[in-house]
Amino acid sequence: MNMDAMDQAAVKEMAGRAAVEALVRSGMKLGLGTGSTAVFAVRHIGDLLARGKLSGIRAVPTSFQTAIECEKWDIPLFTLNSREIGGTLDLTIDGADEVDPQNRLVKGGGGALLLEKIVAYASASYAIVVDESKLVKALGVKFPVPVEVIPGARIPVTLALEKLGAQVTLREAVRKAGPVITDHGNLLLDIRFAIPPDPRALEAELNRIPGVVENGFFTGPHDRSLLPRIFVGRADNPV
Ligand code: A5P
Repeated sequence: MNMDAMDQAAVKEMAGRAAVEALVRSGMKLGLGTGSTAVFAVRHIGDLLARGKLSGIRAVPTSFQTAIECEKWDIPLFTLNSREIGGTLDLTIDGADEVDPQNRLVKGGGGALLLEKIVAYASASYAIVVDESKLVKALGVKFPVPVEVIPGARIPVTLALEKLGAQVTLREAVRKAGPVITDHGNLLLDIRFAIPPDPRALEAELNRIPGVVENGFFTGPHDRSLLPRIFVGRADNPV
C-alpha cells in the first residue's frame, strides 16, 4: 500500500469510528452498510462488542461482504424479516460514492445498492461515512450511478436510459468473464450524465422503467425526511 492509500484508509477509519462513537448504543438494531469505509464502522462495533463495551446489538448486513465481516467479529446477524428485527431498525451506518450539499447520495459503487436502500428505508435514523473526496456539488456527473436491472431486461432498459440522456455501461466483473452479477442475481448498468440531472425526479423516474429493480440515487423517502447525518473523514481535521 502506498502512502496515499494508507492515508485514505486512515481517514475512512476516522469517519467510520466517529459515527459509531456518536450514534451506536447497546441494544440497538443496526443496518450495516457496504464498502471500504463502512467496514471500519463494522470493525469498531465488533471490537466494542468483543471488549464488552457494547451489548445486545442485532445487525442486518447489506451485502455478502458485510455479512462475512460481521461473522469475523461475531456480530449477531439477522435479516429484516427476522422476528428479532421485525422489519425496522434503529440506525443504519453506510458509505456513499457521492454526497451533495443537501446530503443526497449516489450509492452502489460496490454493487450493494438494493439492500442498502431497503435497509436505509427501514431505519429510524441514517448515517453516512465518507472521506472528503465524496463531497460533490452535483450528483451523477463525476461518479456513475448504478441501475440494477433483471438480466432479461438489459437491452430495453439500456435504450430507455439512453432516451433519458444517459451514457450507459454494463458493469463488467473483475476476475470473472462477463458482467457483474449482484447479490440478488441481477445486472448493473452504470449511467452518467453530461448535464447534472435532478436526482430526486430521476430516482423516481428510473424505477418506473420495467425491468429496473432499483437505482443508486438516494434522495430520501418522499413521505418523510431520511436524509442522513454525514460523517466526513478529513486528512487535516478531526471528523
Ligand atoms: C456499496 O454498494 C456502495 O454503496 C458503498 O457504500 C459505496 O460504494 C462506498 O464505498 P467506499 O466506502 O468503498 O467508497
